[in-house]
Amino acid sequence: MYFFNRNKGECVMEKKWWQDAIIYQIYLRSFKDSNNDGIGDFNGLISKLDYLNDLGVNAIWVSPHYQSPMDDNGYDVSNYYKVSKDYGNIDNVVDFIEKAHARDMKVIFDLVLNHTSDEHEWFEAAKDPSHPDHLKYHDYYIWQKPKYDNEGNKKMPTNWRSWFGGPVWEYNEKTDEYYLHIFSKKMPDLNWRNENMKNDLKAVAKWWIDKGVDGFRVDASNHLEKNWDFPDAHPGYEHFSSLPKHHEYLEEFGVEIFGPNDIMAMGEAGGATKEEAIKYCGYENNEFDMLIHFGHCWADCDDSNHITPGKWSKGKIDVKSIKNSFNKWFKMLNGEGWNLIYWHNHDHPRILSHYGNDSVYHNESGKMLAYILYMMPGTPIVYQGEEIGMTNVDYENLTDFRDVEVYTEYDNFLSFGATHEVAMQTLRDRSRDNARSPFQWDSSINAGFSSTTPWMNVNRNFSAINLEKQIKDETSIYSTYKSLFKLRKEENISDGILEFIDIENDSSFIYTNETKTAIFLVVSNFTTHKIMTNLDIDINGYENIYNNYTNRELNKEMKLLPYEALVYKKKK
Ligand code: GLC
Ligand code: CA
Repeated sequence: MYFFNRNKGECVMEKKWWQDAIIYQIYLRSFKDSNNDGIGDFNGLISKLDYLNDLGVNAIWVSPHYQSPMDDNGYDVSNYYKVSKDYGNIDNVVDFIEKAHARDMKVIFDLVLNHTSDEHEWFEAAKDPSHPDHLKYHDYYIWQKPKYDNEGNKKMPTNWRSWFGGPVWEYNEKTDEYYLHIFSKKMPDLNWRNENMKNDLKAVAKWWIDKGVDGFRVDASNHLEKNWDFPDAHPGYEHFSSLPKHHEYLEEFGVEIFGPNDIMAMGEAGGATKEEAIKYCGYENNEFDMLIHFGHCWADCDDSNHITPGKWSKGKIDVKSIKNSFNKWFKMLNGEGWNLIYWHNHDHPRILSHYGNDSVYHNESGKMLAYILYMMPGTPIVYQGEEIGMTNVDYENLTDFRDVEVYTEYDNFLSFGATHEVAMQTLRDRSRDNARSPFQWDSSINAGFSSTTPWMNVNRNFSAINLEKQIKDETSIYSTYKSLFKLRKEENISDGILEFIDIENDSSFIYTNETKTAIFLVVSNFTTHKIMTNLDIDINGYENIYNNYTNRELNKEMKLLPYEALVYKKKK
């Protein structure tokens, strides 16, 4: 297999570290608290490096650790050069990087380039004409004068809807302008048409590279360009997402910063076409090395629901569309770029509650989801707690939730006609906070996360679901993850070729992954009922290597129990 080496500008027979990596995503606030203030931090993370190493992880992606008022848990950066006091200080960060490297683990930081906090000094200057640096920083952000209706009332420049639910505009009295924010109003969007602004962000990336970082995950990377004609459209996403020019910005950043410093970069973008996918992460392009895409993430929305609409509406899981999304990405990038695989991140519900079944089939569905994902080629990202089958939150009060998005959308649901109970169930099913409750280390107070009340409540199921319990148990979800990660490396699973079988079947999830030395076959039932399989392949020579009920000989026709999944191997 050939890999494009950006430094040499040519294709070589050389694999990059991230093509063999298992990336583990850390949501720092909720991973491990070391100083008992209820908030996860770098020293807590350092104390768990041996755990991660033992699990088989070899790269760690850490959610934003920069100084921040924490409106969006750090995605609202107020100083890129300072570490949030919640998480520690720069010495702790450097210590973390060194200790990860000492264990042969790479470090990936989150780079937030689309917006800053409204408490960033650039914005403080930008919004205030009396600030000495006002003229320098005003154009670092996106401003528009108010519009007026026939009665002379002030109107927003457009009716666009922010990703978090409300309008994208906020009025600033001192300049008589609105600023654009496609996320929360405390996160003003940066103006990528401003050269000085771009250079300041490049300097930020370079500064952290010099601290020893091996890679970046570039936040909200498809939103950098906006339609400056500002036409009305609701929600209007096409005017602030995936506009052609954002590729130019990313290319420039890649050529100047990532490439020359041998930095692995992964972007975040939904809905890419083949042409765009290649631009983002084709071997011969300079934007990113891999892309976090969302095709498989919301395969169970109910379009007829107008009370809790869009991603908030829970419908039947469309298994076909999940398979088709994975398949599409493998086919699109085949030989031209490298794929990234994951179930969910900090912006989604917990996979076991979302696509599995956390009540009756916790262990079975947790393992099924594990086999399906981690037997696929590409580079996986595992999200903290996924390896022990953590579930959605069980909060009863609105005030138990922490996410800024929850509060705007809760009001929206009520205004669309939802009762409080319906709105609360929607939050428990679909909100981002589901993935953000503290890691369940053991059955001691606060699940071993902290000895004080955590910033966000632990899930009450922690005495049943925790690491300490699972680590001792060979049949646990944790043991399955660990074993799959070992197998991935031994068998070069990441290099294989993926072929789905009966992809249009809406209950089964069956595929082969053919590596240089073996064919792996994953046969599974993605539903709560029994199904029959019909395998139209040569079934000779396959040996069962994983199962979540019992070992069974491979047959063309097999009756599969709820969430039953089996992995077979045939040597070549
Ligand atoms: C990305 C992050 C999300 C954040 C948003 C704004 O989508 O993953 O958590 O809220 O960008 O920074
Ligand atoms: Ca702490």
